[in-house]
Amino acid sequence: MRILLTEGTRSQHIKRIQMTQFNDRFLRACRREQTDRPPVWFMRQAGRYQEKYREIRKKNSLVDICKKPEVCAEVTLLPIEQFGFDAAIVFSDIMIPLEPLGIDFEYKEGVGPVIHNPIRSNADVEKLGGLDLGTDLQYTGESLQILKRELNVPCLGFVGAPFTLASYMLEGGPSKSYAKLKSFMYTQTDAWHLLMKKLAHSMADYLIFQVESGAMAVQIFDSWVGILNVQDYREYVLPHIKEMIASIKERTDVPVVHFGTNSSHLLLDMKASGADVIGIDWKTDMAAAWKSMNYEVAVQGNLDPTLLFADWSLIETRAKALFDSMPDQPGFIFNLGHGILPKTPEENVKELVNWVKGRAI
Ligand code: CP3
Repeated sequence: MRILLTEGTRSQHIKRIQMTQFNDRFLRACRREQTDRPPVWFMRQAGRYQEKYREIRKKNSLVDICKKPEVCAEVTLLPIEQFGFDAAIVFSDIMIPLEPLGIDFEYKEGVGPVIHNPIRSNADVEKLGGLDLGTDLQYTGESLQILKRELNVPCLGFVGAPFTLASYMLEGGPSKSYAKLKSFMYTQTDAWHLLMKKLAHSMADYLIFQVESGAMAVQIFDSWVGILNVQDYREYVLPHIKEMIASIKERTDVPVVHFGTNSSHLLLDMKASGADVIGIDWKTDMAAAWKSMNYEVAVQGNLDPTLLFADWSLIETRAKALFDSMPDQPGFIFNLGHGILPKTPEENVKELVNWVKGRAI
């Protein structure tokens, strides 16, 4: 039966469809399909720069937020509701899946994760358990299920890459020289590879679990991998990332985003990992990087996160320069070149997202 709608009800109806229709702009760009404009989201887009996040944080620790699905979903939705990003990222932290592996850590204010039982020997690596995803990390699965119902944009699942997780596990926390990590890698090489293998395996399983729970794309954060040279990356890291991405691809069909900070010298090898999208850090010339990768992957990035502290006119100039530098190729995802920083003015985020939304390719 055809339902005849009056002009008024018809426009209301269309408005409702437009509001509820699923926005797949991000997924299309990941697959290098044509989009009306580049999708926009920001790494670590839910966080302390948001007043509403700080309010929720007063009553919940970071770990509480990750482990309480309703609160996790609420926090994940904050930046979508406030700024209208084209993708969400489930609120969690790269350290969260290390707890069930037997790693004991805490977050130190202003420092980051600190590990109480760092890895020192092959025996420590042997002792590391695996994940039982029926029981372990169930809360992330429940959060993603809620988000799938609530969102009309895709939600990314994520993990820390094996190298970045290993760096915390070996150094015990953040480091400048990464001497403990590198000496373990160079002198206890078999134990290093076993550690990387175990982490790659567990993190692949965890990402697959996130996809089964509702994540429509996944991101692997290799935040500290830029401290390696190309030779070490190829020898000590790349085989494990390749294996990890291959096993995700075997069991899911979602796009894989791979990001590393200070990684311009590693981009061609990161591309060889099999990822669909390469995250470009803020120091890199993104257009040149994309060209060097022959446009065979999508790219995500890459404004300097501290630029958001500048006046709007400079933010706009730099955002425009980035857009103007990008070639007419599908697969450009607008993002920052690292996570958004605490104290970033919320109005600048709003203005920048609106500006991107006003751009056609
Ligand atoms: O909205 C989102 O993007 C999801 C949230 C998210 C968090 N951590 C929450 C968090 C994501 C994607 C991460 C990833 C993460 N965690 C990375 C990779 C990304 C990157 O920035 O390179 C890394 C290296 C970590 C480890 C970590 N956890 C650090 C360095 C810190 C910051 C410490 C500090 O005090 O500045 C954390 C803690 C953390 N994880 C916070 C948040 C919002 C801040 C702590 C808080 O709210 O109390």
